[in-house]
Amino acid sequence: MPYAHITGWGKCIPPASISNDEISEIVDTTDEWITTRTGIKSRRVSHVSTAELATVAAKHAIACAGIDPKDIDLVILATCTPSTVVANTASQVQKNIGATGAAAMDTNAACSGFLYALQAATAQIQAGMIKKAVVIAAERMTWYVNWARRDSAVLFGDGAGAVILEAADTPAGLLGTKTGCDSEDRDILHITNFGSDLNKYEPIGPSDLLFEGREIFKRAVKGMSEACDDVLKQADLSLDDINVLVPHQANLRIIQAIQHRLKVPDEKVMVNIGEYGNTSAATIAIALCEAVEQGLIKPHSNIMSAAFGAGLTWAASYIKWGERVTPISVSDAALPPCDQTGLELVAPAVKACKEAEPS
Ligand code: ACO
Repeated sequence: MPYAHITGWGKCIPPASISNDEISEIVDTTDEWITTRTGIKSRRVSHVSTAELATVAAKHAIACAGIDPKDIDLVILATCTPSTVVANTASQVQKNIGATGAAAMDTNAACSGFLYALQAATAQIQAGMIKKAVVIAAERMTWYVNWARRDSAVLFGDGAGAVILEAADTPAGLLGTKTGCDSEDRDILHITNFGSDLNKYEPIGPSDLLFEGREIFKRAVKGMSEACDDVLKQADLSLDDINVLVPHQANLRIIQAIQHRLKVPDEKVMVNIGEYGNTSAATIAIALCEAVEQGLIKPHSNIMSAAFGAGLTWAASYIKWGERVTPISVSDAALPPCDQTGLELVAPAVKACKEAEPS
């Protein structure tokens, strides 16, 4: 059975940001509250579509792997903020990157989406159906944010990450995986005012990210820790064998609680939530890319990754890194320049959300 090595990695971080002090100008909050409760200091706001974020991340991953986009068999895009639903957003990315021979599909498992997509693409390579895939996670979460509500406004941000998978004979890539969904409690985390359940002939208004924070906090810690245990057992490894933990970045305190449960020291954990907030499916894709860039992931590192999100989906993955931790070549792909600040970008949405809120 072939393995699916990760041979390229890339990210796209939109330039405009909103700091905690700046978000305090929009909703009744403080840097102190956000920092101590979540570990978030800033989040990015995209001036472009999810497809454009995904395209730039994918182009960097393709250059990093040194492959011809025409040889890619599958473009799989994890997102819950698709630019378009029909046609799917992955088809736009397939076109933008020139992967003319590839199948293209979106997948939505919210914050667990990247690990779900990694599993799906790896399985196709292992089954011998395809040889090369680009797995992308891209989100424009600020599009959903109701800027009149402080509970969710402070948490989310935009961004994208991508990896290239290539068939190879030696054991590396995704070697252990477990995904699941606790649908019984799917209502405790959801987005309102979106989807074909709505009567589109009535006024819809802003969407809301509704969640029971404390319950999700507990479920996320338990769900991700148990999934990691399961995957370790499957791969016949102990926690001491793990070199790097790349958790979903929803809250620094969730990450620390998982670390505590799994007894993983700080120096083995990839954390970047301070800069980006929760970018849903994209958090792990971006964190994986930055863990390589920062030297946390080394040749043959054993990596454990875990996610938890709306659905309530969850996932854990054991990934063995290959030999190479430097790009084969570098792409000059970049987003178009943004001439607005983060606050300026969201100003029209802030106005609309506040006008829609009952006084
Ligand atoms: N600024 C200031 N005060 C706030 C804010 C804010 N942004 N948001 C809520 N508060 C207030 C509340 O109104 C409440 O006030 P009260 O005590 O007067 O009623 C108080 O702070 C405490 O509210 P809690 O919701 O209990 O705060 P908690 O410590 O649980 O932190 C948080 C909230 C950060 C959302 C946390 O529960 C959490 O991280 N949960 C898990 C992550 C999550 O749910 N993320 C969204 C879903 S996405 C995912 O990735 C799973």
